[in-house]
Amino acid sequence: MKTDEIQGIIEKHLGDGGGLISVLEEIQAVYGYLPADALRLVADETKRSLVDVYGVVTFYKSFSLTPRGKHLCSVCMGTACHVRGAPVIAQEFERRLGIRAGQTTPDREFTLETVNCLGACALGPIVVVDGHYFSNVDTAQVKNIVKKARAGLEEVKVKTDRRIFPVSVSCSRCNHSLMDPDNPVDGVPSVRVTVSFERKHGWLLLSSLYGSYTVESEYEIPKDMVLDFFCPHCHAELKGASKCPECGAPMVSMVVRGGGIVQVCSRRGCKGHMLDLHGGGF
Ligand code: FES
Repeated sequence: MKTDEIQGIIEKHLGDGGGLISVLEEIQAVYGYLPADALRLVADETKRSLVDVYGVVTFYKSFSLTPRGKHLCSVCMGTACHVRGAPVIAQEFERRLGIRAGQTTPDREFTLETVNCLGACALGPIVVVDGHYFSNVDTAQVKNIVKKARAGLEEVKVKTDRRIFPVSVSCSRCNHSLMDPDNPVDGVPSVRVTVSFERKHGWLLLSSLYGSYTVESEYEIPKDMVLDFFCPHCHAELKGASKCPECGAPMVSMVVRGGGIVQVCSRRGCKGHMLDLHGGGF
């Protein structure tokens, strides 16, 4: 753990009015989990007790105190997926990987977790591996899903790939839904936000199909332009704590209905996106 790096993260977020969660979110983005030494440093620097910091970390399932595997398999155990056979699918993953849900394989290749409803119940059972969705999963598919994950999951094709399905999102500040059913993109309700760049300020519709990069906008946006994203309801900026793993631009963070956070890169044309399905939404 690099003490200077952690201190830099703390100063940055406390300096711009961010809170403890933003600090923890970025440390986890850097290290893949929250090392104990980092939490001690956060407690010291923010003048909180270590118990308080651990309280926050353990409250939100999106935070991990142990290193995660290279590949993250999440099996939805919400009610609809549960009645459609999610428990046996989770068992099949456990059998194939030789670990229990919540554990990481000794070679650090896979972490297996169960998550709450993702808001796509009609397509259940849902399994998400490294941010790629698999819908209507049955036990026979598990072997192949593991194999594909090991090989590296390739990019998905909108509409023809069953791993793509719509997510329903809301503003992380005011919790107002960002879904716009009156202006569909890719044939499903879009995600409406307000963006600004070069003194222009207008609407932008994102496809709500996770993995699709279709957008429509009020103004033509030059490729590679980094935009500021705002909630059209409370006007809060939707900036997340993370930087895009592809290009380094700030990520835009929205809450997924059913639990979790979706982040997309703020740079026009960049395909950086991330999904964390575990959180209770913060
Ligand atoms: S229960 Fe699995 S998506 Fe809703």
